[in-house]
Amino acid sequence: MIHLPGKTALLTAAAFASTLALAAPMAARAQTDASAGQEQFKKLWLGSAWYPEQWPEERWAEDLRLMKAQGANVARIGEFAWSRMEPREGEYDMGWLVRAVRLAAKYNIKIVIGTPTDTPPAWMTQKYPEVLRIDGDGKRLGHGGRRQFSISSQRYREFSRDIVSRMAEALGHEPNVVGWQIGNEYTDESYDPDAKAAWIAWLKQRYATLDKLNEAWTTAYWSQTYSTWDQVPFNTEKGNPGLMLEQKRFITSQWVDFQKNQLDAIRAKASPTQFITTNLGGLGWANKFDRYAINRDLDFSSWDNYVGTGHLQPYRNGATHDLVRGWKRRNFWVMEIQPGFVNWAPVSNMLYPGETRAMAWQAIGHGADGILYWQWRNALNGQETMHGSILGPDGKPLPVYGEVSQIGRELAKASPVIAGTHPVSPVAILQDYPSRWAIDFQLHHKDYDQIAVLLDYYKPLKDALGAVDIVEAAGPGPLAGYKLVVAPSLNVITDETAAKLAAYVRGGGHLILGPRSGMKDGFNRLDPKRQPGPLADLLGGQVEQFYALDETVAVDGGSAKIWAEDLSTRAPDTQVLLRYGKANGWLDGHPAAITRQVGKGSITYVGALVDEAVMKGLIDKALAGANVARDITLPADVELMTRAGKGRSIVILINHGRERRSVTLPQAMTDILAGGSRTEVTLEAEGVAVLQRAVK
Ligand code: GLA
Ligand code: GLA
Repeated sequence: MIHLPGKTALLTAAAFASTLALAAPMAARAQTDASAGQEQFKKLWLGSAWYPEQWPEERWAEDLRLMKAQGANVARIGEFAWSRMEPREGEYDMGWLVRAVRLAAKYNIKIVIGTPTDTPPAWMTQKYPEVLRIDGDGKRLGHGGRRQFSISSQRYREFSRDIVSRMAEALGHEPNVVGWQIGNEYTDESYDPDAKAAWIAWLKQRYATLDKLNEAWTTAYWSQTYSTWDQVPFNTEKGNPGLMLEQKRFITSQWVDFQKNQLDAIRAKASPTQFITTNLGGLGWANKFDRYAINRDLDFSSWDNYVGTGHLQPYRNGATHDLVRGWKRRNFWVMEIQPGFVNWAPVSNMLYPGETRAMAWQAIGHGADGILYWQWRNALNGQETMHGSILGPDGKPLPVYGEVSQIGRELAKASPVIAGTHPVSPVAILQDYPSRWAIDFQLHHKDYDQIAVLLDYYKPLKDALGAVDIVEAAGPGPLAGYKLVVAPSLNVITDETAAKLAAYVRGGGHLILGPRSGMKDGFNRLDPKRQPGPLADLLGGQVEQFYALDETVAVDGGSAKIWAEDLSTRAPDTQVLLRYGKANGWLDGHPAAITRQVGKGSITYVGALVDEAVMKGLIDKALAGANVARDITLPADVELMTRAGKGRSIVILINHGRERRSVTLPQAMTDILAGGSRTEVTLEAEGVAVLQRAVK
């Protein structure tokens, strides 16, 4: 974070020091974890997904030479190659993998090994059809695609463990293997008999008796009461919200177990210096399972960053990086990124010249330490021949090769300065999968989009600060280091989470709750207290009634749409921050936002989805109250990112727009890419500046 003494809302030196201190517990935790490889954070990594199994071995050296020339220092291999590693049941061939790894070493290209469990071989699915996934409609999938395996099949778990053990035996001590990726973009759960049996076992363990389950889900409703465990439904139909929330938790546990099975197999055989991660897909925000839980067992998080149709949306994409960084509160890798265009979007257009580079630097600015393009060279056949890649079908560079080579040269320069630093923010946005699920199950307004609601808060915070954390609401992750914490849609608040949030406020923190907060308990059951449920007493106020809006309503200084809650104050010192104007009759003149000072901290409840201007007013006020701000004034389209650590302060500026922009710096900074020292930076369209700022 950046400071300059002066105006009221600027970050003080003490506050600056405290934002830096935030990073300390994370770093300490990472370093004391003996099982975690640390190689992944020691420099900046650049590379591609490479599929040597698709090409004659004589070609490999040329691929590696071109990677090296591009400035790459890593490649990921193996993640779909099961039929090459085990061509027939029990017949293994790891020799080619070892040869590829060793050849790469000659070019100083480290290797990430992907386990191939996304694509079971045909001999297996033919002989053991029970390894195939059954979808929510009861249909068993066939061969020919990917993701057709069952995460719950015990047979598939055995096969997975076997192949991964053999890979770890062959590669676990290869010095050129830097780490592992388990599977590929975990996506679909299965509804096969093994899965149903695991579901029942999971419920028994969680509830012990059916009476407890019946009570928690209020099964007296619609005669849902269960008298034997196997009566409990297991499918993808829209059912009891209590059941649906538990099913998400169960599916999460199945993915955790599926992953743990492979993780244990690698850990048993491989050197602890090799890291283990997985590349989460679904454009980051997907919520088929709880991504905090999945990441808990991994050394660090990775995700796959694609734009699809159109161009980079800086706020949304930046917030996604922040979400990923928050999964483990650590730096992360972008295990796949788009080399210009994809093949799966409605319009798979090319990014603008420079945009591929801007995208890479945005990732780094938000805490990525590794960037890998998908993919190096397209297979000559298969489902993805139309995807963007670095080389063409002739094995020679495509136009985007040059841009990625520029990134390679820049990372080589920047790596010694940037490695070991990470984004540090005085502000956190809370995210929570149970709340995501609970709201989506009972949307009540078709346009209530929780990611959009989160971004409404994120934008003014990002503009004001440069770095924003997005972290888990529940769980042990501390909040005390944050000056301001915003929970845009915390629908499910358990007693533990309420206690954590209340302690944060009592300890001097400033908490803002958005609409729909504190309506449900951990069983997705209505809290008998009015919203925000367990935090209503601390707030000294409550929600009298919520309204889905079919029209825009007036609030002080602007408007609200989609959702509005009528708030009341119950304590004499709870104040009205914002009122509705002429609205739907029920809301007219009533409080739309209320706040209460608690010692040096405060709790605020915002009951409506307000427009940009009103939101900016709320956030400006909150930041002033929490005493945080930045000192760089930005023109339109320019994004500021900051990383700090190891006594260094890094400033990254990107012009995401189409016009040239200039930024005046508050002090002279070292230009890491262009060299020299400057007090002003001019950025062309898609322009990037990477600066080092002296730390006082
Ligand atoms: C129908 C049903 C009721 C209830 C209402 C809700 O009328 O008969 O049980 O579901 O819809 O609007
Ligand atoms: C995902 C997959 C890759 C590839 C890309 C294409 O990210 O993980 O295997 O299919 O999509 O965009």
